[in-house]
Amino acid sequence: MHIALNDLKAQYLTIKDEIDRAVMGVIESTEFINGADVTEFEKNFAAYCGEGIYCTGCGNGTDAIILALRALRITSGDEVIIPAMSFIATVEPLITFGVKPVFVDIEEGTYTINAALIESKVTDRTRAIMPVHLYGHVCDMDVIQDIARRHRLHVIEDAAQAHGAEFKGKRVGSFGDITTFSFYPGKNLGAYGDGGAITSRDEHVALTVARLSNHGRGEHRSKRIEKYKHFMIGYNSRLDTIQAAVLNVKLRHLDQWTKRRQQIAAFYDGELASWLTVAQPRDQSQSVYHQYVIEVDNRDAVLAQMKARGVHCGVHYPDALHQHKPVKDVVGDLEGQYPVAERLARRCLSLPIYAEMTDDMVAYVCDSLKAVLGKRSEAA
Ligand SMILES: Cc1ncc(COP(=O)(O)O)c(C=O)c1O
Repeated sequence: MHIALNDLKAQYLTIKDEIDRAVMGVIESTEFINGADVTEFEKNFAAYCGEGIYCTGCGNGTDAIILALRALRITSGDEVIIPAMSFIATVEPLITFGVKPVFVDIEEGTYTINAALIESKVTDRTRAIMPVHLYGHVCDMDVIQDIARRHRLHVIEDAAQAHGAEFKGKRVGSFGDITTFSFYPGKNLGAYGDGGAITSRDEHVALTVARLSNHGRGEHRSKRIEKYKHFMIGYNSRLDTIQAAVLNVKLRHLDQWTKRRQQIAAFYDGELASWLTVAQPRDQSQSVYHQYVIEVDNRDAVLAQMKARGVHCGVHYPDALHQHKPVKDVVGDLEGQYPVAERLARRCLSLPIYAEMTDDMVAYVCDSLKAVLGKRSEAA
């Protein structure tokens, strides 16, 4: 058997007619920039995240963080609290703006930011907490929001990996002052190229982000745009109409795909959780399992042996944020200060998880892992 870490072709084949029609529709209309599909997607995704939410599309999930920082006027000399484990894009925009990233270790279990360690990191310069819903698992938003309220900090949710994830019945995208999303193709809701969005309850923030993302065009209190009237120095970071058309199609299928991911995760849990360390979602939450992450000794050897059996696993991520050289160059050597994140970086292995996996494929992944790790397969 050959099992990819993710199979975008298999997904495309299940929705080919809808996608082809949507993409051709944009080409026929030639509305490539800020076309009707963009407005439609912003409306649909805002409603998907919750009541009273505004959504603004942008070029990608990294730009979404840049735009969020700009909209909240977080700038050089400020501090933002982030987890020590995430994709580099969580920290990159901070460093770009001269904002000091203040790392907090992740917790056992969900591998998201350890909320109990946040408050001791708050200083006079702290402007925001940026929790990351890593692997599709929701952070402890009750505690994070409470700290933010008491210290008058902004909350920027990085939900690049967590479209549709819920905590106490509320979806991510509805907790923070601003939430940033990525629609990178491999994400749970992925475009056919780069794409991103920002959600907020605050209409002014939504309009500011819309202006910033479109060369500063658009009046302060409306979306009315004059092509050569610029109200602020911004960026060219718009969600392409073709990508929005793809996302409108995929959003209709997202919940069904998430259910299948959750089924697969439950199967993996049943087979593996009694003898391996596996990531676990928080109580009262619904994870969307962007990744299914386990910990193993000799990770790189296990990765290679799984590949030899046809199972392509992933590593998310081989370095914690403070361990990347360009980050170290800015923040100094912090090795040893974030033991859970550092251990995870050494030991994490992501198993294939996507809606198009059959039960046989999921069972094969488990049997392969048992064989590689020397555990007798129950099926054998
Ligand atoms: C946690 C996290 N934040 C931010 C990003 C950045 O998104 P993009 O790749 O769309 O710029 C990603 C995507 O890979 C991510 O996983």
